Amino acid sequence: MGCSIAIDGPAGAGKSTIARRVAEELSFIYVDTGAMYRAVALYLLENGTDTEKEGEIARDCKNAAVSIQYQDGEQQVLLNGKNVNALLRTEEVSQMASKSSPVPEVRAHLLQLQRTLARENNVVMDGRDIGTVILPEAEVKIFLTASPEVRARRRYLELKERGEDCDEEEIRQSIILRDVRDIGRAVSPLKQAPDAVLVDSSEQTVDQVVEKILQIYREKTERP
Ligand code: DC
Repeated sequence: MGCSIAIDGPAGAGKSTIARRVAEELSFIYVDTGAMYRAVALYLLENGTDTEKEGEIARDCKNAAVSIQYQDGEQQVLLNGKNVNALLRTEEVSQMASKSSPVPEVRAHLLQLQRTLARENNVVMDGRDIGTVILPEAEVKIFLTASPEVRARRRYLELKERGEDCDEEEIRQSIILRDVRDIGRAVSPLKQAPDAVLVDSSEQTVDQVVEKILQIYREKTERP
């Protein structure tokens, strides 16, 4: 069993940036579970699955063989043998992942992959239910959050830098909608594990948050 750091939290709290940096510092692998849900969503879109019908999602997701590889330390997601990393970040895939990820069969389909990665490697794994459902025995659990305003601002600046046209208020509304879906779903809702440490990144730099998590890791794992 490897050592595991679970980082859960809402969309846009900075999980992937922080998790990637913590993994680098500790020479652990970074596992982005959101990308796995996105790969299943991409499959459903390409397959033409009727996503208004949960039964169809439950049936078709089983044909999406998802696996991951590492290239220069970066996670690459393979969908039925094809590298789909470049296709996972579109708005269409985000919307579909938000609809399909609550379906129990989709979660069950990805659970073994996530647990196997944590068994065989030292991991920093981010998502929504890592500390609560996937790795309840993780050595370190972090619940990383930030206010919707700060998350919307960060996302707005990121999109603007990429030259994309966007409206900050629209982004804020969409973040709030995703929170409601993630928190309110019946299966594996987004919630802080009782033994997770709450870290609010609203007023902190990336370096400060990374340092805080490394400190928590050292405290939990170093013998006195
Ligand atoms: O973190 P992200 O935006 O890449 O996640 C994509 C979608 O997958 C999002 O709707 C939340 C969902 N997700 C989930 O349900 N459980 C996880 N462990 C990770 C992501």
